[in-house]
Amino acid sequence: MLKLWAIAAVVFATVHGELLAPEERDTAPGGFSRVGPSPGDKILNLRLALTPNDIDGLYDSVYNVSTPGSPRYGQYLSKEEVEKFVTPSADTATQVGAWLASNNITSLPLTAAGEWISVNLTVDQANQLLSTEFSTFRNVETNHTVERAPSYSIPNTLKTRIKSIYPIVTFASSASLAIHIVERNTSTGSLTAGPNRPVASVSAVCRSSSTWSPACLQKLYGIPSTPAKPAANVLGVSGFENDFANNHDLKSFLPQFRPDINPNTTFDIISIDGGVNNQLPIGAGFFATFSIQNTIGLATGVSVAFISTGTLVSDDLYTAYLDQANYLLSLANPPQTVVNTYADFATATMSESHISPQVAESICNAYAQLAARGVSYIVASGDFGSGVPGFPVSGNCTPFDASFPATCPFVTAVGGTEFTESEDAETAWTSSGGGFSNVFQRPKYQDAAVEAYFRTVGANTSSPFNVSGRAVPDLSAINLGLGYFFGDLFELGSTAISASIFASMVALLTNERIAAGKPGLGFLNPLIYQNPAAFNDIATGFNTGCQELGFNGATGWDPVTGFGSPSYVKLQEISNQL
Ligand SMILES: *[C@@H]1O[C@H](CO)[C@@H](O)[C@H](O)[C@H]1NC(C)=O
Ligand SMILES: *[C@@H]1O[C@H](CO)[C@@H](O)[C@H](O)[C@H]1NC(C)=O
Ligand SMILES: *[C@@H]1O[C@H](CO)[C@@H](O)[C@H](O)[C@H]1NC(C)=O
Ligand SMILES: *[C@@H]1O[C@H](CO)[C@@H](O)[C@H](O)[C@H]1NC(C)=O
Ligand SMILES: *[C@@H]1O[C@H](CO)[C@@H](O)[C@H](O)[C@H]1NC(C)=O
Ligand SMILES: *[C@@H]1O[C@H](CO)[C@@H](O)[C@H](O)[C@H]1NC(C)=O
Ligand SMILES: *[C@@H]1O[C@H](CO)[C@@H](O)[C@H](O)[C@H]1NC(C)=O
Ligand SMILES: *[C@@H]1O[C@H](CO)[C@@H](O)[C@H](O)[C@H]1NC(C)=O
Repeated sequence: MLKLWAIAAVVFATVHGELLAPEERDTAPGGFSRVGPSPGDKILNLRLALTPNDIDGLYDSVYNVSTPGSPRYGQYLSKEEVEKFVTPSADTATQVGAWLASNNITSLPLTAAGEWISVNLTVDQANQLLSTEFSTFRNVETNHTVERAPSYSIPNTLKTRIKSIYPIVTFASSASLAIHIVERNTSTGSLTAGPNRPVASVSAVCRSSSTWSPACLQKLYGIPSTPAKPAANVLGVSGFENDFANNHDLKSFLPQFRPDINPNTTFDIISIDGGVNNQLPIGAGFFATFSIQNTIGLATGVSVAFISTGTLVSDDLYTAYLDQANYLLSLANPPQTVVNTYADFATATMSESHISPQVAESICNAYAQLAARGVSYIVASGDFGSGVPGFPVSGNCTPFDASFPATCPFVTAVGGTEFTESEDAETAWTSSGGGFSNVFQRPKYQDAAVEAYFRTVGANTSSPFNVSGRAVPDLSAINLGLGYFFGDLFELGSTAISASIFASMVALLTNERIAAGKPGLGFLNPLIYQNPAAFNDIATGFNTGCQELGFNGATGWDPVTGFGSPSYVKLQEISNQL
């Protein structure tokens, strides 16, 4: 099947010499199988990413407003200021519009700046317009089908004007809510001490791996339990693909784990693409339910909003990511902190190799705009360790494959740690997502930290990872958490938990600043890389990819735990001085 696909691409390239293929891939990623040609009358909804007029100006502004010590630190841009950077040039808008119109295709802008436009057309029309042949592919795990093509062509004159047409060559997952369930004990729901452990800064009860309750996390990371002062500050918790946050489960969680706060505490709902928060009698979603309990249970007194991006427009996760970011950008005052815990979809389809580089860049540019607006966007680094190239495992364990959007340089990626029987301190979690991007260059803020790591391990260009790529994660936190799901106590391991712990800390720090009349912390990475001492270095442990060793932990930054786990007190000292 894949060979036939490749031949089709070559034929088109030869016949249409004046056309250019902006994106292509030679094989469908593992986990998808070709069913046959797409039906000609099937309607496709495609999105065109047009070239922004000054993306370097946007990046420059992001660093200027996010780097402590810069004269413009904290002077976040308005919606209109950001849009000026990403609006396509008038020529681009005109020429792309004329090309579509000459093919009887109408487009609609998806954003105020117009850097994304959307078109509807039939498969027959698309095959002709883009000199390609769409095929139907089946996700072997979910049986969900998608229409995709190995490559497509656009007139050469548009090559600098259209960055990408999505999702022709990109294979995103549709919802498949697998997660690592560590252990389940429904008999009592009470907390019991684990096996004997040496005494460390947190009690043995905490260190027994099943008891990472809010009280233990407060102790471990120095997170205050006193309610945050009233402030116009919001922590946004992402929900995608009909993964819902259950109200009843939150009501069960609070009296047990936070008896000191009002059990009636609720959260707001921000709805995108028909997103709702169904309270299904059979239960709730994993990520949403745990993230809501972790954030309300840790960011005491901070307003939490559940950002539910529905499947009205598409059930593909990358579309949902884009729609979420664009919606937040359309707000005059987006939430200051947003956590996206979905990078660890257990099918590994969130691996960076599933997404076309142009699409990854275009979505990452939306995160760069959020960074310019002063939003701290925090993501899980994934639960696949050093990653596997394709899924199911093909037998080749290298090169390693990091997960997107963690690899976007404008988000903060959080990996996982744990306590093991023999350790009295945190160690790397073997499934902590980490590694190096094949799409995004290493940003300057990482140079010193990553080069020091390369010197330690003797990395070079023949290493099974990309030494020039954006390195992940930036930091890490405990990956285990407690919560209620289907009404029962579940114990889960995921960087989703780690990311929601860190996001809660950031929301509390941000709240202190806003209550004191200061701007929020915005895009965090320049601050993090200037202040490695604000993190508890984790030099032990390793991660794996397809059952083989991936990366080892190391002193200083490493691609398993980043700089290590956060200290609230140290981050607070830094934040107070800004
Ligand atoms: C960023 O700051 C530098 C140095 O202060 C300045 O030269 C540059 O113009 C700024 N860039 C933007 C887009 O504001
Ligand atoms: C566009 O529509 C016009 C009028 O219906 C028709 O004559 C023309 O052939 C169409 N062009 C394309 C490229 O379909
Ligand atoms: C494409 O179709 C959807 C619904 O089917 C509609 O909401 C949208 O406006 C259409 N887009 C364009 C560009 O016509
Ligand atoms: C997918 O389809 C196959 C064949 O029809 C069936 O055996 C399998 O159970 C389906 N899987 C799911 C997840 O629906
Ligand atoms: C669940 O907890 C009860 C009471 O502490 C204990 O007896 C039982 O062994 C536990 N079950 C599992 C599967 O750990
Ligand atoms: C929570 O809500 C219930 C039902 O409305 C009410 O009886 C109770 O007093 C509330 N608790 C607090 C602490 O506000
Ligand atoms: C390595 O990463 C860079 C971006 O930093 C990219 O341009 C290059 O293609 C990547 N190399 C491979 C082999 O994927
Ligand atoms: C690259 O690193 C490997 C071990 O990681 C080592 O065996 C090899 O000699 C190094 N190559 C160069 C050119 O330094």
